[in-house]
Amino acid sequence: MKLKKIGILTAGGDCPGLNAAIRGVGKTAIVNYGMEVIGFNAGFSGLIEKDYIKLKEHNLSGILTLGGTILGTSREKPYKGSKKGENEKPELIKQHYHELELDAIVCIGGNGTMKTAERLHREGLNVVGIPKTIDNDVWGTDVTFGFDSAVMIATEAIDRLHTTANAHQRVMVIELMGHHTGWIALYAGMAGGGDIILLPEIEYNAKALCRCIEHRFESKKPYSIVVVAEGIKHPDSISAGRHIAQLIHDHTDIETRETVLGYVQRGGSPSPMDRILATRYGAFAAQCIAECRFGTMVAVKNNDLITVPLAEISDRVKYVDAEHPLIVKARQMGVSFGDR
Ligand code: F6P
Repeated sequence: MKLKKIGILTAGGDCPGLNAAIRGVGKTAIVNYGMEVIGFNAGFSGLIEKDYIKLKEHNLSGILTLGGTILGTSREKPYKGSKKGENEKPELIKQHYHELELDAIVCIGGNGTMKTAERLHREGLNVVGIPKTIDNDVWGTDVTFGFDSAVMIATEAIDRLHTTANAHQRVMVIELMGHHTGWIALYAGMAGGGDIILLPEIEYNAKALCRCIEHRFESKKPYSIVVVAEGIKHPDSISAGRHIAQLIHDHTDIETRETVLGYVQRGGSPSPMDRILATRYGAFAAQCIAECRFGTMVAVKNNDLITVPLAEISDRVKYVDAEHPLIVKARQMGVSFGDR
């Protein structure tokens, strides 16, 4: 039987765990299935430009703990602006896929990547997706790799804000990533003992927010920690963190400072849990190719590995449910979500 030849690409925002996923796919494909593996550089751009490297076992050694991606990434969207004939990128991808005699490609990425992967599959390519993003907003899976590392980094930052907030009796606002969802803010906010957690999924009320801060100070709480997801409603001209810090200071006259944590949440070595999850996803993706389970994304449900049709995921985002069990418990402990 002809051994398979597969391509791997990493697309969209980077995160810790990408190299663990590449390693999981590559090692399983080579060692268990005898497949030939190539890696495309810079996401879909590498497919469009036929820019790739051969991946042998030795290329995959020593990368499990490495942040970033050995293949590089990009936010190239091959179908953007592609009315018939306007954009040759999808045709170049298909042409290069066949010229390289590929049997399948593994696309490691977030929502945008899965959307592109689904269309390439619909147009005839064999594709398997792996859900990646610190945002944890990919529909169809309980968790994406990158999320645990971002929560760990953000929690460590919040821990540090407690001591400086206490020293100055201040309100400390920290803005976390998450695009349009509040998963990182919810989990890191709870892990870091945030007093107020603002999520895009729960509309905050300025008066309620400030009343909560004032009540804390009147109750002799020496400081407050406010954890803000970047996607909450705020003027485009300033960051969410700055907007909330300014709003609190202007309405309560309490000393307030903000920290926008930014890209450190995407940097460095993956957490042990992300290494395991990314490895599981990678190994399972190679198995799906061996079993010809194409047009799917690997996912985890109650810790079991499953596949979800890419067609079911396209154009969907996994938002935080306002009645999420963690939110219910937090409210019962007196954590405010700025809405009441
Ligand atoms: O999707 C991951 C993410 O870090 C989001 O949380 C953030 O809003 C976005 O990427 C930033 O995009 P870029 O890396 O293009 O600046």
